[in-house]
Amino acid sequence: MIIKIFILIFWLVILLILLFFLLYMAFATISAAPFVPTTKKQIIKMLSMIDKPKTSTVLELGSGDGRIVLSLARQGFQTIGIEINPLLCLWSKILIKKNKLKNAKIINANFWDYDLKDIDILTMYFIPHRMNKLAKKIKKEMKPGSLIVSNAFKLGDWPIHKQGDGVYVYVV
Ligand SMILES: C[S@@+](CC[C@H](N)C(=O)[O-])C[C@H]1O[C@@H](n2cnc3c(N)ncnc32)[C@H](O)[C@@H]1O
Repeated sequence: MIIKIFILIFWLVILLILLFFLLYMAFATISAAPFVPTTKKQIIKMLSMIDKPKTSTVLELGSGDGRIVLSLARQGFQTIGIEINPLLCLWSKILIKKNKLKNAKIINANFWDYDLKDIDILTMYFIPHRMNKLAKKIKKEMKPGSLIVSNAFKLGDWPIHKQGDGVYVYVV
């Protein structure tokens, strides 16, 4: 009997976690983009297109499971991931701790409320219908000379600094 109750509680907890995750997926989709991870090949391409000193501060917009944050931090960049979904944040924090990366951190927040003024490089995998809104935010907040690295989607009608394999780089 006790074992049956434990099994029931176990599945209830799993169901609750799943529901919580799906709720945040829906919220993220309305706010910007759902969780779709960048492939390893695209991450390598994105990193290869960053020509800024390793002392730069990089912000990953919507950091998902933290895969890009981890890759950037391993390269030596001061890296911040901002993610709306608390479960993805928790998972990324575990990975950062496990990999002992002191130069990486994750913030559980809505990036529309985050001021980009101290960010040197912005990386992202976003969604086309929010790119114009994002371009306005970047123009208003980021310093001239800052770099934007976007996987898959173009940043409004901004002039492209360089591109390759579906990665677009812009200079503010
Ligand atoms: C397309 S996924 C990309 C995930 C990760 N950057 C990658 O490339 O693997 C977009 C991410 O943005 C997050 N997101 C959506 N809206 C957000 C918001 N307003 N603030 C912070 N994160 C958000 C989603 O939860 C999702 O994890």
